[in-house]
Amino acid sequence: MAEEQAAAKPLAVAILAAGKGTRMKSSLPKVLHELGGRSLVERVVRTVLPLQPERCFVIVGYAQERVRAALSSYAVEFVEQLEQNGTGHAVQQVLPHLKGFAGDLLVLNADVPLLQASTLQDLLKTHRDRHTAATVLSACVSDPTGYGRAICDADLNLSAIVEHRDCTPAQRQVNRINSGIYCFRWLDLATALPQLSTANDQKEYYLTDAIALVPDAIAVDVADSREIQGINDRVQLADAYTTLQDRIKTAWMRAGVTLIQPASITIDDDVDIEPDAIIEPQTHLRGRSLICSGCHIGPNVTIDNSTIGANSRVSYSVVTDVEVGEQSRIGPFAHLRGDAKIGDRCRIGNFVEVKNSTLQADTNAAHLSYLGDASLGREVNIGAGTITANYDGKYKHPTTIGDRSKTGSNTVLVAPIVLGNDVTTGAGSVLTKSVEDDCLVVARSRQVSVPGWRPAWAREPVSESGTQPDSIERSDE
Ligand code: UD1
Ligand code: CA
Repeated sequence: MAEEQAAAKPLAVAILAAGKGTRMKSSLPKVLHELGGRSLVERVVRTVLPLQPERCFVIVGYAQERVRAALSSYAVEFVEQLEQNGTGHAVQQVLPHLKGFAGDLLVLNADVPLLQASTLQDLLKTHRDRHTAATVLSACVSDPTGYGRAICDADLNLSAIVEHRDCTPAQRQVNRINSGIYCFRWLDLATALPQLSTANDQKEYYLTDAIALVPDAIAVDVADSREIQGINDRVQLADAYTTLQDRIKTAWMRAGVTLIQPASITIDDDVDIEPDAIIEPQTHLRGRSLICSGCHIGPNVTIDNSTIGANSRVSYSVVTDVEVGEQSRIGPFAHLRGDAKIGDRCRIGNFVEVKNSTLQADTNAAHLSYLGDASLGREVNIGAGTITANYDGKYKHPTTIGDRSKTGSNTVLVAPIVLGNDVTTGAGSVLTKSVEDDCLVVARSRQVSVPGWRPAWAREPVSESGTQPDSIERSDE
């Protein structure tokens, strides 16, 4: 019953994202720096939205147009903090927006991106079960340098949070840190906010000072302190990436994916991998990619925003925005991109580039080719060095190749062009006209042999017994 009441209490969220992030030494606002393909602030927004807050405020200030644009697809309200006078000042900006609000306010720093929604749920539950005015997510860490210290008694009743730079030597010994994630009973916080002062080393309004001003506060330690790593500089950004990668890769291994030498592999959070896929070293899986069961990917592969069908093999290759079917072999050294579709049991070999092209089942391009804006049927064989000349300097043109056709080595297909089914092209042909079904087509100069020919400098003076052969007559036949 008590829990039902607690669940019914309204929740609002404030994400503090107005700071410049001076320590990043960047022209990009800190909260827009990316961690695994997603900005810090976007990660925080995505963590809180599953809690379905009634209001979700993002406090913006420095480079706010860019921050607003980066979050334009999310259901958040932006609140402007014109001057960045500290985290307390940032939360003061929501006062006019929450007049009459009688619920809880969850406050999050936008530079703490690894927090999990379940941790927030637990924090909120503890806050409501314990009926405290403030509940602070904390952690005990071996090196608390730079963080605010949570000053509590043995029962984690919190009397104050003191910033690192304002700590006494004794307080510096405290290793329980403030994560920058808090749950406040809004009415108590709203009373405390106007009482904040700037009597501290940075001359800023600290949100952390509200802890000593509200009726009661507790700290709640997070189970894994790596979840609350804050990011103030690029070293911490890199550390957080390592943590994120460990989390993602451990989950995939537990789900039945083999990672060989996982430290050298990176996987974005939106990647999906089916059990019994094998990922080899130096492989990077990015964006919305799907690796199906039985695939063997790597070594040295980057796959971005692509699907690799079951039991396919990719090695030493770059694959972007592509769908590969089942049991296909890609690489070594292939480059597939631009909405290409490779069917089942295809083979794309070394130094083959495929862009915006469709290859149906059992089609091969095994060596040294460019296929751009092309549509290939089934069981086509692309000879080594075949090129679709798809670009006239201004426009791109399509090439179509029918089922079972075979191009000889070094065929150039000058697009637009259609080769029918069962066409064979002679090696070295430059085709500028379409070819009907079931033809051999040769478009190259004929070979000429001139017996006994010598270069002019080697010719002997004309003797009685013979003459030098004529020079070669060149023909375009
Ligand atoms: C803050 C906490 C510290 C805690 C740490 C956890 C304070 C005073 N200190 O310190 O106790 O251990 O986080 O990571 O709160 N921001 C604004 N407006 C401002 C200032 C900051 O929106 O005027 C935003 C920043 O964009 C950032 C967040 O608030 O996302 C935290 O600010 P930051 O300056 O990084 O605080 P810390 O010094 O890390
Ligand atoms: Ca910080």
